[in-house]
Formats: sequence, structure tokens, C-alpha cells
Amino acid sequence: MSLGFSAARGIRSIMKEGRMKRSLKIAIFSIIVFTALAQLIRPERNSTDMIPQTDISRFVDLPADISGLLTAACYDCHTENTVWPWYSNFSPVSWLVARDVKYGKERLNFSEWGDYSDMRKISKYVMICELVESGAMPILPYKLMHKEARLTGDQRKVICLWAEKQIEIMENE
Ligand code: HEC
Repeated sequence: MSLGFSAARGIRSIMKEGRMKRSLKIAIFSIIVFTALAQLIRPERNSTDMIPQTDISRFVDLPADISGLLTAACYDCHTENTVWPWYSNFSPVSWLVARDVKYGKERLNFSEWGDYSDMRKISKYVMICELVESGAMPILPYKLMHKEARLTGDQRKVICLWAEKQIEIMENE
């Protein structure tokens, strides 16, 4: 009787294990199919080589150090000149990267600077200083993947001072 009982339990546990293995197989298969199909959905990409007429560099004095810092840490998400990293060729990572670029440009697009009103420019300068100084920009995932975008305290201060100076220049015009 006890033999029958343990045999039943054994069979049940084997069946359960079989079920688990099957669901694991289904899960892995689903991930593979999803990843393969995901490659078909590619986000649109912005151009990388043209500097538009409305680009900030055509309106504002950008000293080499500022230009260098903005290029290294900001332009990928805040201009039309995004340099797409290799991992952005793979969905669904590409969707996340494209989303950051899309929302980043919506909020602040240095390529469209010439079309911004004075009020908008000033408010962007204020935000640039605030977000860079607090370390909120560039966003963390970007800093993890881009060593050159991990700004030092001095570099953050330089950007902030530059932004504040632009407000002063505008107010004196
Ligand atoms: C990886 C992409 C990425 C990088 C790199 C990046 N940003 Fe952003 N930035 C964003 C996104 C996304 C938003 C919008 C956040 C939101 O809406 O919550 C944003 C918002 C902003 C805003 C707010 C604008 C507003 O008026 O609301 C400022 C200012 C800004 N970023 C400045 C910078 C600066 C300066 C750098 C470089 C030091 C930088 N960002 C680097 C993605 C990025």
C-alpha cells in the first residue's frame, strides 16, 4: 500500500516536472519568436551628417569645450545628428533608444534652436543648467553605455555657467 502511494507520488512529480519543462520550452520558444519578429519593427532614424540651418551652432557662440561636452553627452538625444550605437540595431533595445531620442528631441532640440522663441530659449537654458547640475541629464542608461557622457563636477559646472551666460547675453540684447 505504501509502495503504491509513493509510486503515485513519484509519477505525479515526474508529470509535474514534465509540465514545467514544457512550459520552459514554450517560454524560450516564445522569446525567440518574439525577438525574431521584433527585428521587423525598426524605428525611424534621423540623419547624422547634415547640420540644419536652425542648428544652435549657427546662432550661439559654442566654445570648443562646450561644443565637445554637448556632443559627447547630449546631442544623441537632443539633435537630428544622433549617432546610433550598435545595440540600437536590435529590437526591442532599439525601441527604447528611439523612445529616448524622440522624447528628448520633443523637449529640447538643438537642431531646431533657431525656431525657438526667446522665452523658450531662456527656459531651456534654465533647465539645461538645472538638469545637468543635478545629474539628471544625461539620463542614467545613457551614462552606463557612454563613458564620455559621465560628466565630472567641473564639466557640469562649465555647462551650467555657459547656459547662464547665454541668458545674460539675451537679456542684454
Ligand atoms: C539618452 C538620451 C538623452 C541624453 C543623452 C540627454 N537627454 Fe536630455 N532628455 C532626454 C529625455 C528623454 C528627456 C525628456 C524627459 C521627460 O520628458 O521626462 C530629456 C529632457 C531634457 C531637458 C528638459 C527640457 C524641458 O524643457 O523639459 C533638458 C533641459 C535636457 N534634457 C538637457 C540635456 C542635456 C544638457 C544633456 C547633456 C548633458 C542631455 N539632456 C542628455 C533624453 C536625453
